[in-house]
Amino acid sequence: MRISRLVTAGALAAVALWTLNLPAAAAPGTDQADTGGAIEHARNPAEQSLRELAKRHNLRVGTAVDMTAFNNDTQYRERIATEFSAVTAENVMKWSELEPQRGVYNWGPADQLVESARQNHQLVHGHTLLWHNQLPTWLTQGVASGEITPDELRQLLRKHIIDVVTHFKGKIWHWDVVNEVIDDNAQLRDTIWLQNLGPSYIADSFRWAHEADRRVKLYLNDYNVEGIGAKSNAYYALVQELLADGVPVHGFGSQGHLDTRFGNYSAFQVKENLDRFADLGLETSMTEVDVRMPMPPDATKLNAQAQSYGALMLGCLVAKRCVMFTVWGYTDKYSWVPGFFTGQGAANLLDENFQPKFAYREVQAVLAYTR
Ligand code: G3I
Repeated sequence: MRISRLVTAGALAAVALWTLNLPAAAAPGTDQADTGGAIEHARNPAEQSLRELAKRHNLRVGTAVDMTAFNNDTQYRERIATEFSAVTAENVMKWSELEPQRGVYNWGPADQLVESARQNHQLVHGHTLLWHNQLPTWLTQGVASGEITPDELRQLLRKHIIDVVTHFKGKIWHWDVVNEVIDDNAQLRDTIWLQNLGPSYIADSFRWAHEADRRVKLYLNDYNVEGIGAKSNAYYALVQELLADGVPVHGFGSQGHLDTRFGNYSAFQVKENLDRFADLGLETSMTEVDVRMPMPPDATKLNAQAQSYGALMLGCLVAKRCVMFTVWGYTDKYSWVPGFFTGQGAANLLDENFQPKFAYREVQAVLAYTR
């Protein structure tokens, strides 16, 4: 499985990189001596970055990037360059940040991230063309007041998607076209989009994005879909429906927001779920991994966190077509968790002083010693 995956991924990666005119990744295994069972490394794996260790797997390891921290914290910015081979804008590619005033785009911060990625030979995972959160107030208030009719909302969505995908054409590897469109009861989420446009907004969004850039990979993305369950089953059915209608869906993103107290998975469960999307012809990615815990951290919680990170990474590595493993921030110094979950935190691979936690070491080891 590993060899066939590497060959397949290598071939796919070569084609994908060629069409995207991106620097070709090293062929798998070129920097490792495979001595049968053990895998020997030229340098101590514990001293290698995640991007170095992931290279032989043809896997991109990424992080969400907080552009305020990126501009204010040199250590934060420099570690992104050395540690990761992919980046995702944590916020600056969302509608509220890109178009805070109707018809007035704020491309600056997103363009800065894209240029930094180019300089650092990183691929960019675009997040996100459509969501029910972080929409500009001119749009949500316009719909609420009736000033924006459903027909006008559909035109605004089409324009937004085409404007954004066109602006970044040739610079984005993947787009999260729609984010979190199924709720935790495995139903289409009851959002401004479903209420005003009906279920067709999902297919339309993919078609409009593909119309604007036929080479970028187009993803569905959600949380609580790390293993097989009602919600991931609903996505499996949705993807089958979209593909049957000829909708250009290319990838499935499993966010991976976990908690040391629940929602933990084995690598078997992760692989089993991702592989069924691969069997439909999609590539897959872990797109927003973090593992929060009740504060303060202790050894038990940090070990549980390491197990979860390791299982998600191993599941991705041994899945048929998992091409990216992205963490939703990499240092506890900057994390969305404390602001959203009172009393919780410490969700990332490095602590607030950029020191490796057990989870970082576990991810390094899985990357280093998985065939
Ligand atoms: O930009 C404004 C700033 O102008 C203002 O002064 C400040 C205070 O109100 O708010 C700033 O916006 C904040 C934004 O992050 C940028 O920092 C929003 O209030 C805040 O709600 C927003 O939180 C983001 C959250 O999505 C919104 O739901 C988090 O940073 C971000 O990590 C989180 O990411 C999401 C993914 O996009 C989708 N998957 C789940 C994940 C976690 O919720």
